[in-house]
Amino acid sequence: MDKTRISRVALIGTGFVGSSYAFALMNQGVANELIMIDINEEKAKGDVLDLNHGKAFAPSPTNIHFGTYADCKNVDLVVICAGANQKPGETRLDLVEKNLQIFKSIVTEVMDSGFNGIFLVATNPVDILTYATWKFSGLPKERVIGSGTILDTARFRYSLGEYFQIAPTNVHAYIIGEHGDSELPVYSSASLGATPIKNIINRSDEYKLEDLDVIFTNVRDAAYKIIESKGATYYGIAMGLVRITKAILTNENSILTISAHLSGKYGEDDVYIGVPAVINRNGIREIVELELDEREKELFQNSVDVLKNILAPHFD
Ligand code: 2OP
Repeated sequence: MDKTRISRVALIGTGFVGSSYAFALMNQGVANELIMIDINEEKAKGDVLDLNHGKAFAPSPTNIHFGTYADCKNVDLVVICAGANQKPGETRLDLVEKNLQIFKSIVTEVMDSGFNGIFLVATNPVDILTYATWKFSGLPKERVIGSGTILDTARFRYSLGEYFQIAPTNVHAYIIGEHGDSELPVYSSASLGATPIKNIINRSDEYKLEDLDVIFTNVRDAAYKIIESKGATYYGIAMGLVRITKAILTNENSILTISAHLSGKYGEDDVYIGVPAVINRNGIREIVELELDEREKELFQNSVDVLKNILAPHFD
């Protein structure tokens, strides 16, 4: 890989999630160039100025510009955060009609620029909109990625870390499935360091499997709680998006739970859903197939069915 190569990202949608992503990207010095695009041009221009005023304090300089769809031509990665977000009481799936319309025009405009890189989709319902981006763009499935359950997995690792008093970086546990109400925790392969969580629970009087179920339920419903209290969620997802961006731009081969297209893995096909996958410069190098237990298989199948039922009326 050419180490002198300039890495370029275009961000579409500079609302709460998009602007938090830009802020986190700059603070971590992950990309050389960031182009900010929004239907509200004044908002995007204001964000560019505001972010550039912090450039002197960043670990490495990110060149941040205002741009239009035409500027997507030469970027490595287009990150889409645009679209309607959940109001209190709404589910992610309730947003599908509105956001599919918006995505049709965004993806068409990006492709018309001559773009030939990787899409990273964050807008909800993310699994459905990632599938839509793949269909609308005509790009190979490896180069269309959704944020999937990256945030749910991070919430789970944080919460398990609090429970066991272990740093979340040493908690290895995945949430897979829909980024939404039908997602599931994979206890069968969860570990603290290299020790399976199941073994820790079996040997302990202090820790109980029922507590993990409460932890999972809180993780699954975390967004509802945050939306009730402050109207939207953005910092956590922004950091998750930067994590994926870094894995792509620096060719990491990191395993992250993202929304990927299944074509055979997990016995499923033609659906985008949250699974662990190896991420590098080319996008999704491969999907990691976990050995699920029977209950996890059933829950995963249910989650696939939920997503396929939403996709069916919109795509052949
Ligand atoms: C979240 O989980 C709402 O999908 C967003 O925070």
